[in-house]
Amino acid sequence: MRSFVTFVICAFLVPVLSFAAEKSPAAPLLIPEPQSVTMADGTFTLTENTVIVADSVAKPAAEILANQLSNAIGYRVAVTDKSSSSNAIHLRLDASITHLGTEGYRLISSGNGVEITAPQYAGLFNGTQTLLQLFPAKVYSQRPATNVAWTIPALKIEDQPRYAWRGMMLDVARYFMDKEFVLRYLDIMAAHKLNTLHFHLTDDCGWRVEIKKYPLLTEIGGFRGEGPARQGGFYTQQDIREIVAYAKARNIEIVPEIELPAHALAAIAAYPWLSCTGKQHVVPAVHFISDDLYCAGKESTWKFLHDVMDEFCELFPSKIIHIGGDEAKFNKWKACPHCQAKIKELGLKNEKALQGWMTTQVEEYLRTKGRIILGWDEILRAGVSNTAAIMPWYDKKAAFDSASNGHPVVMALTRHTYIDTPETRDLGEVPGATWLPAVSLSDAYNWNPTPSGLTPEQEKNILGAQGCLWSDMFLHKPFLTNMAILDENRAARYLEYLTLPRAAALAEVTWTPREKQNFDDFQRRLSRQYARYTYAGWHYRLPIPSVTFTRDGGGKITATATTPVEGGTLRYTTDGAWPLAYSPVYQNPVTVEKESNFLAVAVAPDGKHISLPFIVKAADQRFAKYGEKIGEWKSRQIGNKKAKIVEFDVTGKINQAGTYEITFLYTGGTQRLDIDSVEVYLNQDLVAKDVHHGFTGGQAQNNTYTLKVDRYETGAAFKVRAAIYGDEGDDSNGVVMLKKK
Ligand code: ACM
Ligand code: ZN
Repeated sequence: MRSFVTFVICAFLVPVLSFAAEKSPAAPLLIPEPQSVTMADGTFTLTENTVIVADSVAKPAAEILANQLSNAIGYRVAVTDKSSSSNAIHLRLDASITHLGTEGYRLISSGNGVEITAPQYAGLFNGTQTLLQLFPAKVYSQRPATNVAWTIPALKIEDQPRYAWRGMMLDVARYFMDKEFVLRYLDIMAAHKLNTLHFHLTDDCGWRVEIKKYPLLTEIGGFRGEGPARQGGFYTQQDIREIVAYAKARNIEIVPEIELPAHALAAIAAYPWLSCTGKQHVVPAVHFISDDLYCAGKESTWKFLHDVMDEFCELFPSKIIHIGGDEAKFNKWKACPHCQAKIKELGLKNEKALQGWMTTQVEEYLRTKGRIILGWDEILRAGVSNTAAIMPWYDKKAAFDSASNGHPVVMALTRHTYIDTPETRDLGEVPGATWLPAVSLSDAYNWNPTPSGLTPEQEKNILGAQGCLWSDMFLHKPFLTNMAILDENRAARYLEYLTLPRAAALAEVTWTPREKQNFDDFQRRLSRQYARYTYAGWHYRLPIPSVTFTRDGGGKITATATTPVEGGTLRYTTDGAWPLAYSPVYQNPVTVEKESNFLAVAVAPDGKHISLPFIVKAADQRFAKYGEKIGEWKSRQIGNKKAKIVEFDVTGKINQAGTYEITFLYTGGTQRLDIDSVEVYLNQDLVAKDVHHGFTGGQAQNNTYTLKVDRYETGAAFKVRAAIYGDEGDDSNGVVMLKKK
């Protein structure tokens, strides 16, 4: 047994998780990790006599805490305003604690009880969320949990966030989610100390807020489709008031978005005079970015926008109002006499400058109500005053340019925050937005919202960051019916799955001091967080278990698997079958003939949440230098001595404008492959081509094609069409690779 060979194959970079190796007393598994935690000796145990002490200001936080504790432990925890010397949880405002900022708190636990102090309500609420995480994960249960000691360690925490804006964007415009779901989503955010809900309420495919002066906005703009396919909904003004109040008690501000000048077709369908042409449209039932904009040249548009802004400002007390500004195409404005007259009257250079003028008009109107505008990065390039806040999503450089010019900035970069994408494109992964690469948990965690190169003064302009949960793509595809989840409420479960655990990554990026952020340690703490999600009843993506293989001197291979979820189990197979929730339970290391025979899934404590399987992937590195595979050709599928057009889907692989190389690589068959041309299409439009003769076989010549893609649109489908054939027949096989230059 002298020559042990040990090798580790990780599904992704998961360290082997360990629950036992901590020093005593063990540091609690908190997310987001606080600024400072000091352990002490002893514990505090919640009993039937424990009370929560809070004055009238702290009372909402106390009631929310009492409800959660009561649900989980099965008896009522009382809230009182009478101080108690022992067995109490005190929530106390203390204006003299000035070093913890507006949202910070101090939490001290001992054998006597718990004291949470903070300079403001926000901090008290945040402290209660940390307190919940100190208890066993079952404290998140909505029903009485059994066999639990409600004990927490003695310690002192001092904590405050890194950024003021820790947000999520919820797109209820493209797919309506009812008020109950929004409240549930606010609970999820609150548990992560996320404090801003950017509410995407208006778009081409839906208008979701009741506006008293314009009832058709919701009567027509709130619904789409015909007959049984008809769907939609909207929030009444009373619903909005409830949502805003519910959020406020949880230290969450609702920042509403009124999209303009584009993404406005639902409003235009309701009131056709809002557009340049006045043409009657219907609310689209498939993903669609309309080129109909609000007409910037007609007075009637301004009357409408002012009225809408008036009602929005009455409903939403947030200092910031999001005004959209993304993805405007200007062909309608170019052809509109009103818009052209306005350009002339104002001496503007072009239609983009007209968008800049429109944005400034909106800004000035909202300023009279004490509000600040925020818009997607396009508003920066259209021209705005530097009091406008900018939300960089696509144009990375906009972050630096904005912050260095004094604009407040909220980061929402696609690569790290667009969680409508799936976490992977592995076999079995849920589908998600296809126009972007997958955003892994590590992508969501390992980034810095503050761009480099700013001065310390300019860095203060970075307010924070948010995750973006769009629904433009998933609602129109069979995504929701594809999902293997044991719950009929698929849309809600799907949104939760996309949100968790990436919202936890975002929470830590935006809350925890940068020097304390550590992805490996975050994953270790997530083991408890997954258990919390399970008991709370929130759907989430379980990570793939990590597996280690050892081989002894005799060549015997042993698989050792580790569950990523506290309290969860592993199920496995060794016959190549996809493991399921009722496959054999993994208890001890398993001997296998070869590594690829061992497949394992992680199963959560409730038996309902199941990970994708750990599978040893055939590591075909041969062609890696040519980029990623976009497809293959097989015998009989190509032209026989005469070119045939074959098509490859490269949506999400061509993910920005730029130059791409496509290479054909022969792998087998009796004929070489000849290529005459390669073309790239954006939806139906030809956007790039390379016409030259090349071939690949025993030898290869000119078999790489260079495509300069100048046009790029979010959400668009990209296809490659190639004219290919076998020189002497059609028996040829190979792969097609794509690389960004
Ligand atoms: C966006 O994704 N169009 C902001
Ligand atoms: Zn117009």
